[in-house]
Amino acid sequence: MNRISEDIIEKIRNTIDIVDVVSEYVQLKKQGRNHFGLCPFHGEKSPSFSVSSDKQIYHCFGCGAGGNVFSFLMEIEGVSFLEAVQQAAERTDVELPEFEQPVSTRLNTHEAKMIEAHELLKKFYHHLLVNTKEGQDALAYLSNRGINKEVIETFGIGYAPSSWDFGTKFLQKRGFTLDLLESAGISIKNSEGKYFDRFRNRIMFPLWNHQGQVTAFSGRILDDGEPKYLNSPESDVFQKSKTLYAFHLARQQIRKKQQAILLEGFVDVIALHRAGLTNSIATMGTALTEEQIKILKRNVDHVTVCYDSDKAGIEAAYRASAMLKAAGCEVRVAMMPDGLDPDDYIKKFGESKFRTDVIGASLTLMAFKLQYFRRGKDLKDEADRISYIDQVVKEISHIEKPVEKDHYLRQLADEFSISLDALKSQEFQLSKQVKKRDNEGASRNTIFNRPMLPAKKMLPAYHNAERLLLAHMLRDQDVAFKVQDALGGLFNIEEHSAIAAYLYGYYEEGHQPDVNAFLSRIEDISLQRVISEISMLLINEELSSQELHDYIKQVLNYPKSLKIKEKEAERRDAERRQEFVKAAQIQMEIIQMKKELK
Ligand code: GTP
Ligand code: MN
Repeated sequence: MNRISEDIIEKIRNTIDIVDVVSEYVQLKKQGRNHFGLCPFHGEKSPSFSVSSDKQIYHCFGCGAGGNVFSFLMEIEGVSFLEAVQQAAERTDVELPEFEQPVSTRLNTHEAKMIEAHELLKKFYHHLLVNTKEGQDALAYLSNRGINKEVIETFGIGYAPSSWDFGTKFLQKRGFTLDLLESAGISIKNSEGKYFDRFRNRIMFPLWNHQGQVTAFSGRILDDGEPKYLNSPESDVFQKSKTLYAFHLARQQIRKKQQAILLEGFVDVIALHRAGLTNSIATMGTALTEEQIKILKRNVDHVTVCYDSDKAGIEAAYRASAMLKAAGCEVRVAMMPDGLDPDDYIKKFGESKFRTDVIGASLTLMAFKLQYFRRGKDLKDEADRISYIDQVVKEISHIEKPVEKDHYLRQLADEFSISLDALKSQEFQLSKQVKKRDNEGASRNTIFNRPMLPAKKMLPAYHNAERLLLAHMLRDQDVAFKVQDALGGLFNIEEHSAIAAYLYGYYEEGHQPDVNAFLSRIEDISLQRVISEISMLLINEELSSQELHDYIKQVLNYPKSLKIKEKEAERRDAERRQEFVKAAQIQMEIIQMKKELK
């Protein structure tokens, strides 16, 4: 059985709040009755995506995406309607009866199984760490690093025993095939066809997807062996480039504080959470990717980059902050004394000093860059000094705010006792080039800079009238019945007559006006979009019978006015052929038709 009963769908729809669901993906700000944010379906810099909590629908004025909570999940997760209902159900207490579980595709069953295997293994590793003799050394190592019981629980840390195939056997007994365990990266097949565990004698850190399901592990060696960290390989459920460590744990705090702390090492995340900085996340040992930035941007604008303060870390921080800035984030960079990482720093100087002297003293991006350009230069040396000043002026030419520009130019002039005017003219030259390049580059197609849809054309009167009629019909069944009598399906826009037909049926079955409920009956995504857009129209609650009459008239008159235009062309033809009797006849018809228009 692959249908879910209407009752259950309705129950889910009534329990769930679309604002909560959308908020998991989009940073929303309340404005009047609606919430606004950056559309997750197309790249944009100013918010045209709106969510109505009254109507429980969303609509993007930029790209036209729209619908109810199920359509949102379908679009953003790329799943079928049934899967969207299931995902929505998971966020509520509503239970889908066993026999009504959607028949998922094979791929999804496969992925679900891979996650289930990881979840079981995580519990098993955790048990070994905290309850058994085998885990004692690992536990001692962790407590040595200041990772206590509570932290171990929060981060689900465990221990993989030094056995060849303990984990593989454990999962095999629970019905997982060796094939699946191999593709999940849990087991490895050797040249003799034998399967053994990837992780042995390591401290196990679960890695989660953004829903908080375990999809992979990273295992740290207990001593100084190699490799220090062993990660699960990439799989259908784990991609490093899309993973931000502890994102599901940090998301709420990130939104609340409107700031995220981005780290390089996931052990640093654990240290910062322990220090109360629970808005910390980390990349997985790789450079920051645009996908990760996109995830961040849906939640927050302010990001503090806090990477290791060694050469590699500073280079990486420079690149990461430039990417974040390009994506429109407000970036700060937190620095530590040479060579330390956040975890080391906290160990050495304590949590409170880290909060005040590192995070609290973080640099603006420009200040960080000034330090960055200084590295490896001897500013007493003339050549180095000139190259430094060049670099800084170039950087200043990218600043948009005149006051800020002026500030840094003065600072530079003061520090090196050079003429401010000379700096200004140099900066002016560069800034002209920058502007030119920006204009030329404006059509570049990055994820943050996709071409926008052409601006909405002014709609002809009949089109507007149809939209307004539908907007009122969606809110008031009496209006719908009146329109049904007067117009039936005679809307000029095909989609509008389809929507009207669905709506008549909906009310005839005795349902009350409810866009959200109505939307769940519509399978066609393009109709859903039109419906949600129309129901976002600002209209007066009351519709006078005069207005109603006018709209209907505009709709009915449109085809007639097309006919009149045809007739007028015929008449001109007749005149050209000098068939004046015929022309006069046609003119009579036109007059008659025009009368009917009134
Ligand atoms: P500790 O030595 O346990 O404090 O780890 P760390 O976080 O200080 O490690 P480091 O700064 O050396 O590396 C930062 C991040 O890079 C780690 O959190 C890992 O994600 C990753 N990493 C480090 N070493 C290895 C390794 O040998 N293999 C892999 N795959 N990743 C590593
Ligand atoms: Mn470290």
